[in-house]
Amino acid sequence: MKSKSIKELLSTDFNLQEVTVNGWVKTFRSNRFIALNDGSTLNNIQCVVDFENFDEALLRKVSTGAAIKIKGTLVESQGRGQTVEIQVSELEVLGTSDPDTYPIQPKKHSLEFLREKAHLRVRTNTFAAVMRVRSALSFAIHNYFQKNGFYNVHTPIITGSDAEGAGEMFRVSTLDQKKPPLNEDGSINFKEDFFGKETNLTVSGQLEAETYAMALGKVYTFGPTFRAENSNTSRHLAEFWMIEPEVAFNDLDANMDLAEDFIKEVITYVLENCQEDLQFLEQRLLDEEKTKPQAERSAMALIEKLKFVADNNFKRVSYTEAIDILKNSTPNKKKKFQYPIEEWGTDLQSEHERYLVEKHFNCPVILFDYPAKIKAFYMRLNEDGKTVRAMDILFPGIGEIVGGSQREERLEVLQEKMKALGIDEKELWWYLDLRKFGSAVHSGFGLGFERLVLFTTGMGNIRDVIPFPRTPQNAEF
Ligand code: 4AD
Ligand code: MG
Repeated sequence: MKSKSIKELLSTDFNLQEVTVNGWVKTFRSNRFIALNDGSTLNNIQCVVDFENFDEALLRKVSTGAAIKIKGTLVESQGRGQTVEIQVSELEVLGTSDPDTYPIQPKKHSLEFLREKAHLRVRTNTFAAVMRVRSALSFAIHNYFQKNGFYNVHTPIITGSDAEGAGEMFRVSTLDQKKPPLNEDGSINFKEDFFGKETNLTVSGQLEAETYAMALGKVYTFGPTFRAENSNTSRHLAEFWMIEPEVAFNDLDANMDLAEDFIKEVITYVLENCQEDLQFLEQRLLDEEKTKPQAERSAMALIEKLKFVADNNFKRVSYTEAIDILKNSTPNKKKKFQYPIEEWGTDLQSEHERYLVEKHFNCPVILFDYPAKIKAFYMRLNEDGKTVRAMDILFPGIGEIVGGSQREERLEVLQEKMKALGIDEKELWWYLDLRKFGSAVHSGFGLGFERLVLFTTGMGNIRDVIPFPRTPQNAEF
């Protein structure tokens, strides 16, 4: 008999059918009730054992965490909390789990403790729910783009260029680290390295995606990106996944429209398809917030917050307007910001972004037209000569979730900009070629996938929304 998932079983009417099911034991109560879970759904199926029919030694092996196979009859449940249950006729223990050493006990564990057990933490309800939502979001993202005529491009992971120009890259090399070949001036001779040049893990697939947009029109990449920035925060990972659409002939306004529509649709997908997991995560958050002072609690529960984002327009504000708002804000006047806002041109810190989103506008905000000086080299210069056609989307509780721009399509302007920043034209000759052969207005953005998962699940730390987080001093598993 083919085994069925617990999700399938729980959605069938009881009809006395014989079923086979595999899973892991959550709890085994009174030598009679096994709560079994197989990961297909948050809910366990109750399996009722008549202990007189089974060997005592066998039942002793049915402990939390053990893998078992059950055959039995699906019947209407006598107990509360479920409509169906299984009357067990055969029970096989596939893999035992020592109750004294199994770390995932049927009680509440702290997220910090579970981070140390990242290989087992997905067996908890919280992590299983988060990872199912993560998977649904990933599907919704591909679905959105495929449905709207975008082509998926696999941009390279190993690259010779620094797309963001921030110099925060992980080197990829096969040279002998203890005795690398040297040039006459003592520097490392990368000509002898695997690729005959210095290479790194990519920080963004954008530059390569641009080349494909200039032929396929609408493209997107969705892949891992790497940043060696030493930011030990709840919003930064050294390895994270980024979605980067790039569209030929789109200007910044069209880029903002796309980003907003895209985010709303993927959130709506999760609202419609992950109800149980979201309800569970919402309750988890409410319980957690009970321990916090009133002022720190969020105004909206998780699902209400997701609906709010899906149903309301994002507020679009220029950087210049935002600086005025921040300058005149109470926390700035009362010197409450760690980085006070004094003049136009300063980069915004997350405290500023969160003030705008959470206190001033109370909704997602798209900031655009940033000072050229604080943004990457490829963004299109405005007529004023000092701002660029950049946009960042700021989310409540998260801060920046999207960074994007209209790209500089004018060859001379781009060359000048690169020169001023000391970026060697020889390294990006192919990127400049795009501006020589059929150049056109084009735009794109990058959405940090884990930041989206963080927002959607209501979790508080980015380390808890990716299976095996990579952060400074941490690459276990
Ligand atoms: O703003 P960023 O650096 O933009 C780019 O990389 C552009 N090349 C994207 C493009 O236009 N195609 O990064 C984009 C997004 C950020 O808004 C943030 O959500 C996420 O990537 N991000 C990170 N997420 C987790 N950990 C980090 N260290 C991140 N750095 C950026
Ligand atoms: Mg950014």
